[in-house]
Amino acid sequence: MDNSKSVTSNQQGIHQRLTETVNRHIQSAYKKPYQQHNIEAFGQLQQKLNSPPKAAQYPQGLIFDSCCGTGLSSITLAEQNPNALIVGVDQSFARLNKNTPEQIIPDNCLLLQANCEDIWRMCIEHKIHFEKHYILYPNPWPKSSHLKRRWHGHPVFPVLKDLAKQTIVRSNWPLYLEEFAQSWCLLTDNQHRVKQLIIEKPLTLFEKKYWLSGQTLFELVVE
Ligand SMILES: C[S@@+](CC[C@H](N)C(=O)[O-])C[C@H]1O[C@@H](n2cnc3c(N)ncnc32)[C@H](O)[C@@H]1O
Repeated sequence: MDNSKSVTSNQQGIHQRLTETVNRHIQSAYKKPYQQHNIEAFGQLQQKLNSPPKAAQYPQGLIFDSCCGTGLSSITLAEQNPNALIVGVDQSFARLNKNTPEQIIPDNCLLLQANCEDIWRMCIEHKIHFEKHYILYPNPWPKSSHLKRRWHGHPVFPVLKDLAKQTIVRSNWPLYLEEFAQSWCLLTDNQHRVKQLIIEKPLTLFEKKYWLSGQTLFELVVE
């Protein structure tokens, strides 16, 4: 059995400054200039969408897999959705290149080394919309002082409502998802509940690690 530890935090319950932080970000657009390597990665996505098979030939649409790590989840989603294009993004070159050489990346899967906060904004600007957006086991940043590093505490958060019809977030720290759900409600007025996740076959390496160590896992689906 794996001995992965569950998340511990000095935070008791939803962060006291969550509402104030999210509302401030809703009121002021995040305008940080794009980094060059992210512009180049976005160019690869545009090239993929403009070369055969063209976007229209993905009848299941596009699926975004943010913080995809080694890309295992992106590859699995591509196999499960052969008529969709899966776009997996991770900032870590080391993680993305951990794929064993024999692991074949399907044609309908594109893995990009980039920062999500730039790629999300470029997709919206270029009217590239996604059917689903997976954020699987984002870094939890459990210290109370790290609220702004969690995706819902980040100034880019408000753009997520324009990126995809449905966003699926998984974590082994339910408070992360409770905060995400509350932030989503501030953003869209839509309420969603965090649910316990029953794993049959892990979708990501982190999911596998937590599952093997007997941790309870959680999922939030927001529209
Ligand atoms: C806990 S790991 C989870 C990886 C994978 N989703 C899984 O479940 O196995 C978090 C991942 O987020 C990536 N990451 C963190 N911040 C990011 C950002 N701003 N843009 C893209 N990737 C990021 C890290 O490189 C890391 O691979």
